[in-house]
Amino acid sequence: MNYQIKSIEEYKETYKYSIENPEEFWAEIANNFIWHKKWDKVLEWNFTEPKVEWYKGAKLNITENCLDRHLEKLKDKTAIIWEPNNPEEKTRNITYGELHKDVCRFANVLKNNGVKKGDRICIYMPMIPELTVAILACARIGAIHSVVFGGFSSKSIADRIVDAQCSMVITADGVYRGNKLIALKNIVDEALRNCNTIKKVIVYKRIGNNVVMNNETDVWWHDEFEKADKICAAEIMDAEDMLFILYTSGSTGKPKGVVHTIAGYMVFASYTFANVFQYESNEIFFCTADIGWVTGHTYIVYGPLLTGATCLMFEGIPTYPDAGRLWQVVEKHKVNTLYTAPTAIRSLMQAGIEFVNGKNLDTLKKLGSVGEPINEEAWHWYNTNIGKGKCPIVDTWWQTETGGIMISPLAGITPTIPSFAMLPLPGIQLAIVNTQGEELKGNDVSGDLCIKFPWPGILRTTYGNHERCRTNYFATYKNMYYTGDGCIRDINGYYRITGRADDVLKVSGHRIGTAEVENAIDLHHNVIESAVVAFPHNIKGQGIYAFVICSNETKDFEKLKSEITNLVSEEIGSFAKPERIQFVNGLPKTRSGKIMRRILRKIAVGETENLGDTTTLLDPAIVEEICKVIL
Ligand code: WTA
Repeated sequence: MNYQIKSIEEYKETYKYSIENPEEFWAEIANNFIWHKKWDKVLEWNFTEPKVEWYKGAKLNITENCLDRHLEKLKDKTAIIWEPNNPEEKTRNITYGELHKDVCRFANVLKNNGVKKGDRICIYMPMIPELTVAILACARIGAIHSVVFGGFSSKSIADRIVDAQCSMVITADGVYRGNKLIALKNIVDEALRNCNTIKKVIVYKRIGNNVVMNNETDVWWHDEFEKADKICAAEIMDAEDMLFILYTSGSTGKPKGVVHTIAGYMVFASYTFANVFQYESNEIFFCTADIGWVTGHTYIVYGPLLTGATCLMFEGIPTYPDAGRLWQVVEKHKVNTLYTAPTAIRSLMQAGIEFVNGKNLDTLKKLGSVGEPINEEAWHWYNTNIGKGKCPIVDTWWQTETGGIMISPLAGITPTIPSFAMLPLPGIQLAIVNTQGEELKGNDVSGDLCIKFPWPGILRTTYGNHERCRTNYFATYKNMYYTGDGCIRDINGYYRITGRADDVLKVSGHRIGTAEVENAIDLHHNVIESAVVAFPHNIKGQGIYAFVICSNETKDFEKLKSEITNLVSEEIGSFAKPERIQFVNGLPKTRSGKIMRRILRKIAVGETENLGDTTTLLDPAIVEEICKVIL
């Protein structure tokens, strides 16, 4: 069996084999990595606890697979091409040899600062190569990284540090994204006022803005780096040891720490990268995601490095200095594969074709999309104007919890249809179920998307709360992992994801829970209750619509609106700000007190007729009242 599938026939054969012999299949794939000891058992699982263990008994270190094993042949190959926010600033190229050295040295910095195997390390950094170095240095010594996206507020960082009981933060002084300065270190300082587990803060000097260093805890990256030894043997880890925690939003409560373990994630990240993008040895791969989200973890850091690929890392934003930046970066670095989000495509489409014109995009061979459903208009624009009709588009469906791509065309191999993710990857056993939990067999069906057999990249738990993992993903349907997404299998057996079926929002591809936003809004002393739903937004995909009941004391409603918006920025981050706020006297609730979001979603798009059955509501008159304000 080949590691990289090369034709649709081979895909079909491999898929069939992987389903009939999952353990043999994933063992053969895993033979392509280096292990200190091979596994005693490929897979042990049950979805009731749930318990999933891949490659049990095996010993390895993922960084040896990302770096050391490439040194013989790829020492001088570029691992990371770095493009700064400011186009005037110099780009950096980091070879596999250099990255290996930096990781080893920084691993010693971590050790010198008291980090031990199993410790949790919070990383809050800009998109710079040192972020990759910090991540891999943790993995080198068996520490568990928890990367927090640079757009999150100090409150969100604090929550994540406390939940994972992190002992260190790695950050930078600040960073410019577009014209905007983000003072990372100050934000961390603010967060640390509410955490008491942090013993050390390592600060990378990125822009030289003013920061206050705390003598007891804070050290500069460069000082520590100078002092550290160059050699660092990789810690030998168990296959099922934790590799990282990544916080993500669900439909209820606070974000949960999705846990991925070493061996299974490694195999899955690498296999999906090599196959979906059909990576060839001299190609330049550009994923525009932030490493603070799972897409960056898997397809900027681990997948490409495990494959010995050259990956472009971009510090800036697609619209700075103008809406031609992404195309200029593609031209400048002769990018072969571009992997981005529908939101970016839609905003660049709206900016106008003049930003594409004149840019040489001839090196592009493959395009990808991730994070939210891509609408047909954006798909066609991407295909025609960026791919010039010659680049296959892979619409990749997956989640933080799945670790890597689950449903996607293989570039140039699987046929493509706009807005379809097409077919499952080998080893992925999908099921579409109806509300009674019955699997709908055959084609031309739609329902909830589930997965009925484990794959190596599946989450193992939610940090510190296994019960939450069970109820969130494994309790809705018996013996299945529930994705939260709706899905269609068309008459030809191709899959189309229709979006979340639960209360999770995707705003500009960022995952946000309605409950999180509501909790933030409810903190305002003049707010009695709120309900948040999504409405379709032509650039962001979804926008946030908040229905808010405020107290009688409220006089200035505009002021309250802006205070609510600021509160959400402080509590979560500015990306979670509600686009629209409507003040109401009540919310449509059932007699048991549950908010009927179905009705609010309709009202939010101006659909005030056909609201469905409202007789079960505690107070049906409230609906009419809410509708009146809209009209
Ligand atoms: C959505 C991002 C349609 C989906 C990798 C999923 C998609 C959620 C697609 C996970 C796609 C992701 N088409 N919807 N190609 N990719 N989604 O955890 O709703 O940030 O459940 O992972 O994004 O978001 P997350």
